[in-house]
Amino acid sequence: MKYVSINACLGCALIITASIVFAGQGPETIDLKAAYKVEGKMSAVIFPHHAHQEKLECAKCHKDSKAGGPLVVEIVKLTSMNNDFHKKFCWPCHVELEVPKGKSCTTCHRK
Ligand code: HEC
Ligand code: HEC
Ligand code: HEC
Repeated sequence: MKYVSINACLGCALIITASIVFAGQGPETIDLKAAYKVEGKMSAVIFPHHAHQEKLECAKCHKDSKAGGPLVVEIVKLTSMNNDFHKKFCWPCHVELEVPKGKSCTTCHRK
């Protein structure tokens, strides 16, 4: 049993190393307003994708951790303050990880 648990830990270490090695995958930044065809008056959110990869594993945001692809939450509602990016994706993590000014409008809507 001891050997099994040691192996499991080595597995974890490998996964963490792998996600660091893969940092810099997919687009560097993503204009989410354009990508999701959001209509509204707020300035476009240019998501700093690679900057997030330096701090977080792919699987924090993507269902298929290596290839990118679908997000861990489904983004359906795109209007008003109750949009799914705010409620289900960006804000909960910024609050959980205590990102400085993580819920300030201008952190994400730059202008
Ligand atoms: C903090 C969240 C987050 C992390 C961490 C993250 N991504 Fe992403 N990624 C996104 C978002 C948001 C998009 C754009 C929205 C979408 O594709 O639906 C995206 C888009 C992508 C795309 C483009 C997908 C497409 O259809 O054009 C790829 C490829 C990708 N990510 C790969 C990765 C890989 C590989 C990692 C880990 C090294 C990673 N991402 C880490 C949030 C994240
Ligand atoms: C799984 C966690 C997680 C998710 C989801 C997430 N973020 Fe972040 N975000 C972070 C962390 C951690 C930082 C702090 C990085 C640092 O310390 O520099 C951050 C920082 C930022 C910053 C500031 C970067 C800078 O230049 O200082 C912006 C802008 C940002 N996030 C936008 C977004 C947007 C937009 C979304 C949703 C599409 C999002 N984030 C989703 C964890 C997350
Ligand atoms: C952590 C990132 C983040 C923060 C902080 C943030 N938003 Fe957003 N917001 C988004 C994303 C992502 C979208 C969807 C993509 C887009 O519109 O560019 C969005 C969309 C919106 C929308 C719907 C689209 C539109 O233009 O009408 C409104 C309204 C909005 N935000 C208002 C605000 C206000 C007001 C604040 C400050 C209280 C705020 N947001 C803070 C990420 C953020």
